[in-house]
Amino acid sequence: MSLLRAIRCVVVAALVPQCSSTGKGPVGIYAIDARYVVIADSNFNALLVVDAKLGGAVGALSWPLDKNGTRVTAASDPQTWVSLTGVASCPTCGFAYVTSNHGAEFWRVSLPEPLAAMAARRDFAGLGNASVAPLALVVDGANLTHSGKLRMVRVSADGSAGYVAHLSRGVFAFDPRRTGAAMPAKRILEADGAAGLQFADDENELLATTMGAVLVLKTRNASAAPRAVKVQSACNGHHARDAVKADGLFYVISGPQQGAGCKGLFEVGEACRLLTARTRSVNWVDGPYSAAHFSRPHAMTRLPGTDLIALTDIDNRAVRLYAFRGPAKGEVTTVPYDDGLWRRLLGGAPRPRPARPQATARARDFLGLGAGAPGDAPAAPALWTSQRCASCWLHWPGECPATDHDKNSKSYTKATWGHDRRLLARAERDGALRYECRNAAKPALTADVCC
Ligand SMILES: *[C@@H]1O[C@H](CO)[C@@H](O)[C@H](O)[C@H]1NC(C)=O
Ligand SMILES: *[C@@H]1O[C@H](CO)[C@@H](O)[C@H](O)[C@H]1NC(C)=O
Ligand SMILES: *[C@@H]1O[C@H](CO)[C@@H](O)[C@H](O)[C@H]1NC(C)=O
Ligand SMILES: *[C@@H]1O[C@H](CO)[C@@H](O)[C@H](O)[C@H]1NC(C)=O
Repeated sequence: MSLLRAIRCVVVAALVPQCSSTGKGPVGIYAIDARYVVIADSNFNALLVVDAKLGGAVGALSWPLDKNGTRVTAASDPQTWVSLTGVASCPTCGFAYVTSNHGAEFWRVSLPEPLAAMAARRDFAGLGNASVAPLALVVDGANLTHSGKLRMVRVSADGSAGYVAHLSRGVFAFDPRRTGAAMPAKRILEADGAAGLQFADDENELLATTMGAVLVLKTRNASAAPRAVKVQSACNGHHARDAVKADGLFYVISGPQQGAGCKGLFEVGEACRLLTARTRSVNWVDGPYSAAHFSRPHAMTRLPGTDLIALTDIDNRAVRLYAFRGPAKGEVTTVPYDDGLWRRLLGGAPRPRPARPQATARARDFLGLGAGAPGDAPAAPALWTSQRCASCWLHWPGECPATDHDKNSKSYTKATWGHDRRLLARAERDGALRYECRNAAKPALTADVCC
């Protein structure tokens, strides 16, 4: 790439604020065992197996089909991705079920062997070979997919019962062992805002989290009315998103607003108690109780046989662990997993968006280059721009996808990272560009970005 093009690219990137907004990340989560979780990650467009003990993604299934059912390639526009939402499987299941916000929205993944068998060998290579089929979720002859409203999904430990939450219609039961392109389903709960789903008490209970309450259903008695754990009234009007039950207490992801922002972890029983800070912090601040910060926790699950709850923290692009009992009770720790994943899964760091003509003109003006033909720029190994890294609309320090497909991050001042750093671009000897976010006074605060 010519130096001028390099410089133009940098400055254009700096002048076009939406170059790399995010707002996507890990959403649904399924615990394979005490150590490994599978997450539905809408940022990487993949199911990822994360090692909750050591960190890192140890297995991946890149989502093969886009919104239109067309095969996804490295060149596909991220805006055609389906945006993965929920994931569920079981210890002996040769399948997993996945929900998404777009496209078919309900999917069966045929696994070469159960995830638990892969975990026992600590080898998840087979996940990458799994095949994916879109399903129609059919209720009384009507088709619930293509609604944008399917949320979390759960499968019982023996693989015989499946449940899926629909945001406006409630919770539906299906038989996960059935094959075929149409999956009949039966409504077991009529509710508005059903998002989270979780088993409790040896699967005698199914927790359906709606905005206002966690509804506790008896899985073995369809005629029993659900009990409501009222989050909205107990927690000052908060909206809940997902819940787990441990030692008789309900742990609930909740916050004051519907949708984005300011969610924390609460313990809800007779009263409502905030267990962590309720910020919208986009860094991994760990620690006990209110010392810990989350970005946008979405779903969670217990790690079987441990004292830990694992939560997906969307904008932080990490799994967070909360110890609900034991010596570390109240402590939040971070499980990072995204090092180099863009490169590994998507064939290279995300590219800057192509320059728009008016932005190019502004960039040339900014550099004092006038409107002349490209190719004759003064040599410049590195270029500081006047832009703060926050102009990239990054939600966290590091790589990010080249997409402005972000519905959840409208707040520039609060939701973006990098207000204390400036964008520096380096033209490397091989002509490649490397972007860094730097604080001139604190050289240690350097981070690569994809702006
Ligand atoms: C997907 O389908 C829609 C509507 O049929 C169409 O407008 C769009 O161009 C298609 N996208 C791709 C990537 O094929
Ligand atoms: C995945 O599929 C490839 C090609 O069919 C095969 O060679 C490989 O052994 C498979 N890997 C696993 C772990 O199943
Ligand atoms: C379900 O609806 C979608 C979108 O309308 C359609 O493409 C699909 O064929 C339908 N499936 C069934 C079984 O009705
Ligand atoms: C099921 O629930 C109904 C309504 O609460 C109750 O009357 C009945 O005894 C329950 N059945 C069993 C087997 O527990």
